[in-house]
Amino acid sequence: EIGGHQHFMHKEMHEQPETVRRMLTGRLDDRFATARLDGLQLEPRELRAFRRVKILGCGSAYYVGQMGASMIEDLARIPADSEAASEFRYRNPIIEPDTLYVAVSQSGETADTLFAVREIQRKGGRVVGLVNVVGSSIARECDGGVYLHAGPEVAVASTKALTHMAVGFAMLAVALGRVRDLSFADGQRIINGLKQIPDQVAAVLEQEDTIAEVAKKVAAAPSLFFIGRVRGFPVAREGAQKFKEISYRHAEAYQTSELKHGPLALISEELPTVAIVPRDDLLERNIGAAHEIAARRGPLLVVTHDGVDLGELDAARIVVPKNEDELDAILLTIPLQLLAYHAALSLGHDIDRPRNLAKSVTVE
Ligand code: BG6
Repeated sequence: EIGGHQHFMHKEMHEQPETVRRMLTGRLDDRFATARLDGLQLEPRELRAFRRVKILGCGSAYYVGQMGASMIEDLARIPADSEAASEFRYRNPIIEPDTLYVAVSQSGETADTLFAVREIQRKGGRVVGLVNVVGSSIARECDGGVYLHAGPEVAVASTKALTHMAVGFAMLAVALGRVRDLSFADGQRIINGLKQIPDQVAAVLEQEDTIAEVAKKVAAAPSLFFIGRVRGFPVAREGAQKFKEISYRHAEAYQTSELKHGPLALISEELPTVAIVPRDDLLERNIGAAHEIAARRGPLLVVTHDGVDLGELDAARIVVPKNEDELDAILLTIPLQLLAYHAALSLGHDIDRPRNLAKSVTVE
């Protein structure tokens, strides 16, 4: 027992409302409707000069980087993408002086991410870190950064550090946006959205018992799909990753929009799908795809928002509090942590130390 919890992963999931609240303290600036990220060591003039953002991380950090890229494109309207640092470092990447490179890592010691940082710097690029462990190699070697302040994370499957990364990207996106075309009102809207995150995370965690019941059923299947569209796709990727890591079940993430271009052939009673269906401008399309799956007798778990009418859909559902569209990915990810945890628990796996994995891979 760890402070009343059976596993570190459980403890770390439940710490999130408190740690996120702490992370936000002093960083949200109501006067200018922006985020204060002094650690970046970038003047507004420098922030404004970047024409592109390239995010690099491994595993879950790479997927959260994709959420971050969406937030940056949405709020700052600069092209942004996230790439696996483990690939980037081996492909002779083009380093541009007007690109802001962002290395994202819980441990700050992942060798692939660290080598990517060094490669960027050797070629004259500017790289900042979104790192949890203070004084770690990536934190020290970057040209500035944002500490995640999630506190120690012990479980191999990352939970709270990822939530902090996503919140960190939201702050970076609003800071980049507010020196560009993001209005004061929109800045305020995002800042107010961020302030609600801790309570909203707590509201998702309160649904643990319900999610645990669904998880037991899902864990019985040897394979499952996680689907999401646009902002929901990185959520699906991270959900599948977490599920694989600790349940050892095959879980594949797919863009909802691509289902009809191939994977629909696999849908049957034996293959459950976890569908991310936020209440946003793509809602009708996502509901339509869920009906396509149901029509082929695929069992469905829909992760959605309050007020969403799924019609006659035969599906289990988890309802997550709605935030601003640009920030929804942060909260939609939380039930997938609980889903993976309870699936692994019902299968009797070693949750904090899954087979074949290390907390951080510091060697080649
Ligand atoms: C992998 C871990 O090796 O490294 C993942 O198994 C983790 O869980 C990834 O997301 C990146 O780690 P870090 O410390 O760089 O965020």
